[in-house]
Amino acid sequence: MKKTIFITGGAGFIGSHVVRRLVMRYPEYRVVNVDSLTYAGNLENNADIAQYPNYVFEKADITENTAVEALFDKYLPDGVIHLAAESHVDRSISNPLEFVMTNVIGTVNLLNAARRIWSNKWEGKRFHHVSTDEVYGALGKEGLFTEHTSYNPHSPYSASKAASDHFVKAYADTYGMPVVLTNCSNNYGPNQFPEKLIPLCIHNIINNKPLPIYGNGKYTRDWLYVKDHAAAIDLVFHKARNRETYNIGGFNEWQNINLVKELCRQMDLKLGRVAGTSEQLVTYVKDRPGHDLRYAIDATKIKEELGWNPSVTFEQGLALTIDWYLDNKEWLVNVTSGKYQQYYKEQYER
Ligand code: NAD
Ligand code: DAU
Repeated sequence: MKKTIFITGGAGFIGSHVVRRLVMRYPEYRVVNVDSLTYAGNLENNADIAQYPNYVFEKADITENTAVEALFDKYLPDGVIHLAAESHVDRSISNPLEFVMTNVIGTVNLLNAARRIWSNKWEGKRFHHVSTDEVYGALGKEGLFTEHTSYNPHSPYSASKAASDHFVKAYADTYGMPVVLTNCSNNYGPNQFPEKLIPLCIHNIINNKPLPIYGNGKYTRDWLYVKDHAAAIDLVFHKARNRETYNIGGFNEWQNINLVKELCRQMDLKLGRVAGTSEQLVTYVKDRPGHDLRYAIDATKIKEELGWNPSVTFEQGLALTIDWYLDNKEWLVNVTSGKYQQYYKEQYER
């Protein structure tokens, strides 16, 4: 094996696409998926590549320093692509400390472990921190987030991600650690846990349940197909200069209500329902506290410097996503049984 790469959070939504991409494209790498399998982590997401000889799964919690150090000693990784996180804004509002533990302490544990085994011999080493556009705060009706936008997080989730970004940059400035960062907009696609807007609505449309729209539904997000995010991570990990940050986005802004209406339109067609049927499920519910009005990414830097572009239009990506959920109803049933029901009650039926 030429290189060993740790991918943390590789059993989650985005991480599983990054793992698959690296395992299949780089047979000479040993890809180690480090994941503690929280409610959001699911080995079914990696089932198709689990038998590949260059793939290893290690169940470990990044908040546990001893476990993290033991893994670094065992594999001596050349690179880390760090995606493990608590990722849902609504859960961060009810349980902020869990976000501090995984997103901040977990990240610092990984940085320390990497620093220890790399012992200031940085040649050929790289720590890639995967972050979010939410660290920049909220935009008004105009403007875009660039790599120079000041940090201004509003939710416990985005505050914890902002803190982790600062630690990664501090390890580069203080110790010379070779790091790169990416800050991406909202992802959608196969394998996303149905707590996030798009898979939650797909799940509810299939089951004829209300589609909860927070506030007036005019909040705006910039949506990117998950495989295009995985491709961008691959590119930045292999081609970017150390200490650079790249914003990644879909050039694809939608107000929530319009997005959900488009989803209803496509699903009515696919499910053979009369046009307009699913839209009747739209239900306005109480707003998310501290709800950010608008996110939109200026992805010019990654486009111009590294030649990255999204490969699918939103219409294509949404169609692929709906098809995946319709073809994988068992996956959806598995992840929504058990604790999901309790979460759903607390979030939507209080
Ligand atoms: P996810 O919630 O689907 O998956 C997170 C994964 O991390 C899960 O497999 C979970 O088991 C694992 N994990 C959580 N806590 C852990 C711990 N303490 N130790 C080890 N593993 C742990 O998240 P996602 O949506 O795939 O996001 C992945 C990363 O990308 C996160 O860092 C997130 O902040 C970032 N991001 C997400 C989006 C998005 O739209 N989903 C956009 C931009 C950036
Ligand atoms: O911008 C990147 C971020 O996108 C990532 O860093 C986060 O990990 C990811 O969860 C996502 O955060 P959002 O809060 O934007 O995603 P979510 O799917 O939770 O919500 C999208 C929008 O839809 C937001 O304005 C809130 C709204 N919403 C969400 C849910 C779950 C609703 O109106 N109803 C809902 O039931």
